[in-house]
Amino acid sequence: MTLRLAATPSGLETAARILRDGGLVAFGTETVYGLGGDATQPAAVARIFEAKNRPRFNPLISHFATAEAAFEQVVATPLARRLAHAFWPGPLTLVLPRASTSTVSDLAADGLESLAVRVPKGESVQALLRAVGRPVAAPSANRSGRISPSDASHVLEELEGRIDAVLDSGPSQVGLESTVLDLTAEGRPMLLRPGGIPAEALEEICGPLAYPESETETAPASPGRMLSHYAPALPVRLNALSVSPTEGLLAFGPTPLAGAGAVWNLSQTGNLEEAAARLFSGLRYLDKQGALLGLTGVAVQPVPAHGLGLAIQDRLRRAAAPRPAL
Ligand code: TXA
Ligand code: MG
Repeated sequence: MTLRLAATPSGLETAARILRDGGLVAFGTETVYGLGGDATQPAAVARIFEAKNRPRFNPLISHFATAEAAFEQVVATPLARRLAHAFWPGPLTLVLPRASTSTVSDLAADGLESLAVRVPKGESVQALLRAVGRPVAAPSANRSGRISPSDASHVLEELEGRIDAVLDSGPSQVGLESTVLDLTAEGRPMLLRPGGIPAEALEEICGPLAYPESETETAPASPGRMLSHYAPALPVRLNALSVSPTEGLLAFGPTPLAGAGAVWNLSQTGNLEEAAARLFSGLRYLDKQGALLGLTGVAVQPVPAHGLGLAIQDRLRRAAAPRPAL
């Protein structure tokens, strides 16, 4: 069941509690309604993808009440601070290098070295983010491939029964998503997604912007699309039906293959949300065990091709694909 909460002190308190407990709350921002989850809890982030029916993972924007809170999670440049001063709270998302001390989960950041951060505008979203006190990951609160919601009733049409609550703060003021500006490269900032803040307004502060040359560059996850990022040091073998003592096993389900040198079960109960949430940590774990025990590879048990299974398979395929020569 999806609660419809009014933007009153008690509604906000309930919404904040649900988020801190790992639940999903859609909330209004000045751009569109976001589907929020605690960005520091991989299981909550996995639930976001599941609720949206996203066929694959995607890096999510982390939302904060203040620029100070946002800049604890990234390495902020002087330009980032000037932009924040000019446009936050407001419809601008900044992509910056993720801080080594960032508490945002790998799943929310899609394993990238960068992190998209934003301080949205609006009394109730501000109050909510203050009350949660943690980074809140929030893609637009629609099912994958559908139109973004700018009203609580749109959210319910999309996601009724799939999320814990929607915090109704009335129609979104901007009604289209934030502008996404990438500040990670040297040289000109790159406009990855046009949005609520016009390019001209940004250029007054940053000077001329760069634009992605190709579609693939606009695919914001392009760095994350490169295999080396997900690939553990050990070679990965998919759809394993048996395993040797010199291999680590990435298992799935109640009957892990017998005889592996080390085992990480993505989900003993065969739960895909749990498996997605445990995927990156599992690859890291097996890599560490591999170094300790002198393992020669990672064998992966089959993962079903539905729901989050497709996203998991996507990452595993990348991990298993031929590596670029060094
Ligand atoms: O207005 C908005 O930005 C809304 C509200 C809810 O805040 N959120 C939103 O999120 O539109 P979403 O997930 O639908 O879009 C996020 C955009 C995507 O284009 C994503 O690929 C990009 O930001 N993005 C996120 N993290 C990134 C990163 N590390 N590097 C490059 N692009 C990134
Ligand atoms: Mg969207």
